[in-house]
Amino acid sequence: TNGKVSWVGSRSEVKASDYQNVVSAKGKTVIPGFVDSHNHLVFAGDRAAEFSARMQGQPSAAGGINFTVEQTRNASDEQLRANAAALVIEGLTSGTTTVEIKSGYGLSIADEVRSLQIAREFTDETTFLGAHVIPLEFKSAPDDYVAMVCGPMLEAVAPLAKWIDVFCDRGAFSPDQTRQILKAGIAKGLLPRLHANQLEPGEGIKVGVELGAASVDHISHFNSSDIAALASSNTVATFLPGAEFSTRSKYPDARPMFEAGVSVAIASDCNPGSSYTTNLPLMIALAVREMFFTPEQALWSATKGGALALRRTDVGHLAVGAKADFSILSSNSYLHLAYRPGVNLVEQVWRNGNQVS
Ligand code: NIG
Ligand code: FE
Repeated sequence: TNGKVSWVGSRSEVKASDYQNVVSAKGKTVIPGFVDSHNHLVFAGDRAAEFSARMQGQPSAAGGINFTVEQTRNASDEQLRANAAALVIEGLTSGTTTVEIKSGYGLSIADEVRSLQIAREFTDETTFLGAHVIPLEFKSAPDDYVAMVCGPMLEAVAPLAKWIDVFCDRGAFSPDQTRQILKAGIAKGLLPRLHANQLEPGEGIKVGVELGAASVDHISHFNSSDIAALASSNTVATFLPGAEFSTRSKYPDARPMFEAGVSVAIASDCNPGSSYTTNLPLMIALAVREMFFTPEQALWSATKGGALALRRTDVGHLAVGAKADFSILSSNSYLHLAYRPGVNLVEQVWRNGNQVS
């Protein structure tokens, strides 16, 4: 009713007067819509050649993120919008009903503003990632870039974003720069989240916990004190197995996180460099196969975990009052999401009680 779940129970309890239209899922599986809490969908061009070279063991010659920044700056609004729309629909058809979208390939005030304006056409979960990398024109004056991000850029984007994110890692931003940028965002009313410990161990996870981040993402490297910090916080640990897959990096073992009671999410990290996929079923399969999630933990992490990472209680589950966002799988068990990798099991997708795919 009104796009929400109004009743849950067994078939024998339901009265004919309680429903109008019946959609039978006999022999199939209904799961909550996926909540994909980490994506970079506003960009132009791709980096297929870089991927191919990397897979052949060659160091990537191209400029990585800055290559995409150049392409993005040169693209029209229409091109950026069409590319983002195609990716949102791609995710939707594979069962994603809530999507987060970051900026971060503009890296100038005007290009970050337009990236977020476009992102907002698709979701309320928009994230300002001006601190993705230092753009080429600021290479010799990184502090000036940080000052711009914390000052006029933040001022311009604040009305367009719910979240602020920083790539805290080698070659990107230091823990101190990360603190400075996230604090500036918080002061402007944005909520913090961050890219932490993807490339190497570091302070990123602790910085996130210290500042009350909703989520620390990637976390390919963590130690027992990082786990302890997360366990005593309400910061979600978000794993992005597509990035390990597409960069052929070592997958982290998530079991110690679960054992410590940390809330875990998985997301696709769709971006043209390190994980060009929107497919949560594949992420579930990778999390189970490579990161030692149980199939239950993986499904929970892609739904309820993603919702916690976005501080949302209305999505990611199907209790009475939740949004009626769900998928119908062609298989008789959710186990098949990991058991049948690469097979399209998502037969129908419903959002707000309406079939959308
Ligand atoms: O989340 N880690 C930083 N940013 C992206 C990669 C972006 C790119 O390579 O274009 C990520 O993996
Ligand atoms: Fe990312």
